Amino acid sequence: MTQYTLEVDLGERSYPIHIGAGLLGHANLFQPHVNGKTVMICTNTTVGPLYADRLKATLQQAGAKQTHMVSLPDGEEFKDWPTLQRVFDALLQNHCDRKTVLVALGGGVIGDMGGFAASAFMRGIPFIQVPTTLLSQVDSSVGGKTGINHPLGKNMIGAFYQPQMVLTDIATLNTLPDRELSCGLAEIIKHGAIADTEYLDMVEDNMPGLLNRDLELLALVVKRSCEIKAEVVSKDEREGGIRAILNFGHTFGHAIEAGMGYGQWYHGEAVGCGMVIAADLCRRMGRLSAEESARLKKIVIDARLPAIPPRLGVDKFMELMAHDKKADSGSIKYVLLNGLGGASTSPADEALVRQTLQEMGAGD
Ligand SMILES: NC(=O)c1ccc[n+]([C@@H]2O[C@H](COP(=O)([O-])OP(=O)(O)OC[C@H]3O[C@@H](n4cnc5c(N)ncnc54)[C@H](O)[C@@H]3O)[C@@H](O)[C@H]2O)c1
Repeated sequence: MTQYTLEVDLGERSYPIHIGAGLLGHANLFQPHVNGKTVMICTNTTVGPLYADRLKATLQQAGAKQTHMVSLPDGEEFKDWPTLQRVFDALLQNHCDRKTVLVALGGGVIGDMGGFAASAFMRGIPFIQVPTTLLSQVDSSVGGKTGINHPLGKNMIGAFYQPQMVLTDIATLNTLPDRELSCGLAEIIKHGAIADTEYLDMVEDNMPGLLNRDLELLALVVKRSCEIKAEVVSKDEREGGIRAILNFGHTFGHAIEAGMGYGQWYHGEAVGCGMVIAADLCRRMGRLSAEESARLKKIVIDARLPAIPPRLGVDKFMELMAHDKKADSGSIKYVLLNGLGGASTSPADEALVRQTLQEMGAGD
């Protein structure tokens, strides 16, 4: 089984991403970061029982002085302030200090919360990401965005905080529910669509193998997606410009998530459908051919993601998108493709967006 290591190039905040099957057992990868240190594993009640014992044994083998664990309830609804407080409680109750290493073991929710806790505890402690969903392996564990939700908005409280290492054990995907696997594929398709047509071809050709969890194939796409994300993040760590292209499909997607109530449509499902809507808008604007737009839709459907928006009504859609944090001084900014394999942000004619939504099935 192939193992990959790549580097996120951020000057003194650079860090490696290790990708491979079985890496949870590789003490040598943890050793430089945890030897002689106290470690706090932050996980949840689903992932902890599956993988925490193995991780703990490896950390001990890697020379960790002590290993503690905090297990949070599972779910986006717990990505909140009271649950975050439990991480600080555990750190303080166990007499953790500035040298303690926080290891986030779980999907994007745990990665975002663990990273935010690490950024704030004693003004910043070392942090390692061990992502266990496909979405977190290809997306949320890379790039340093951490945070929690506020009742008035998703991911509204947070910090940019880079980990010391990302360790991705592809074999953890064996226990991931099918629906979550498809959500990760949405972000993978996105990476191909915005940055690399050859990669999009490869994903399209290998969709059955990816859905069947061929670990060699999954490792390859995790590697390529991380490369694409790392390259964009290296150019624009704090999303002043180009990093925004990673939000392709997200403006429509966030409206779907918010409009349906969080948890009804998963994030990746909303992004998948959001990309199909955005591609259709691009076609109407002459930025994509009809074939390209139809092809992207087919790839989304092949990944077992929804391609038809919920009937929220066009007015509601527009209102939700205007509320989205990517709406800049009143005008909504869209990430639009310049043919497959390239993207940029731009406003779009409101009447055309409305027409697109209506004809795609979002209601009247
Ligand atoms: N920081 C970023 O740049 C960034 C980017 C994208 C998304 N996000 C955030 O990531 C979150 C979504 O992440 P997610 O899709 O990983 O969801 P998640 O963390 O909620 O995980 C999905 C589900 O899978 C379970 N799970 C995780 N790994 C498993 C495994 N190996 N086997 C069995 N079950 C497993 C989890 O317990 C959970 O029930 C959102 O909060 C989103 O805002 C952050």
